[in-house]
Amino acid sequence: MKRVATVPDLRSAVASFREKGQRVAFVPTMGALHAGHLALVEQARRVAGKVVVSIFVNPKQFGPGEDFDRYPRDLEADAEKLREAGADLLFAPAVDVMYPPGFATTVHVAGVSEGMEGARRPGHFDGVATVVARLLGLVLPDVAVFGQKDAQQCAVVMRLVKDLGLPVEVLVAPTVRESDGLAMSSRNAYLSPEERKAAPALFRALLATQLVHEIGERKAEKLLAAFRTAISAEPRLELDSVDLVDAATMRPVEKVDRPVLLAAAVRVGRTRLIDNVVFGG
Ligand code: PAF
Repeated sequence: MKRVATVPDLRSAVASFREKGQRVAFVPTMGALHAGHLALVEQARRVAGKVVVSIFVNPKQFGPGEDFDRYPRDLEADAEKLREAGADLLFAPAVDVMYPPGFATTVHVAGVSEGMEGARRPGHFDGVATVVARLLGLVLPDVAVFGQKDAQQCAVVMRLVKDLGLPVEVLVAPTVRESDGLAMSSRNAYLSPEERKAAPALFRALLATQLVHEIGERKAEKLLAAFRTAISAEPRLELDSVDLVDAATMRPVEKVDRPVLLAAAVRVGRTRLIDNVVFGG
């Protein structure tokens, strides 16, 4: 696996893949790689001859008081995991490569980015959309792969790609889970052993709510109440937010008469975890 940190090196490595007639798939990450990311790499390998992965902890998507400084970083360990997973090129730029002096553009995707996480983390999706637009412009992949765990991010990226007419296919890969159901996340590394034990209650509460839907409940209000009851069974989880939205538009629904996304965030100690399930329709 080749490793590059500058735009000219990235462009010439991707150009050499193109000269060989290879399709290029791209997996953007912020590092601290776990099996969930490696599943994205595997998915990328299934659809393209060459796989480019970026590692960049994007300051623009962290709000004041969020965990930008303490976000786990271990480039050497990540590079080794990517090499073993069969990635072909790692792009690990410094901040001034991604945002050189004079950089003045912010990408705002109205609508899908404004509710839920967007409302609670002002500026977060502008940061995501800006970095993803720049990365897609630098790598120029045929396919880009994102994880379903960040469902609203996927909706934002799909809207961005459609609206700007970017010639890239967006693939969404299913959430990868630990054996007890906890969604894999770089932030799981912050959990103490006790917190780690409590954390799977988030997914259990999502599944319990999905079951309430399966046995006939359609009203959003009732399903959200069922989720709150389920989550309160684990006192170490503090509910931060829960939303039941149209899975395509991310707008709240009153009843489940189409595919919906039930997305929740909890605090376990100082760590904020998110997860979601899709059902209905
Ligand atoms: O999902 C992430 O890791 C980030 O939001 C992304 C897509 C790499 C943009 O920084």
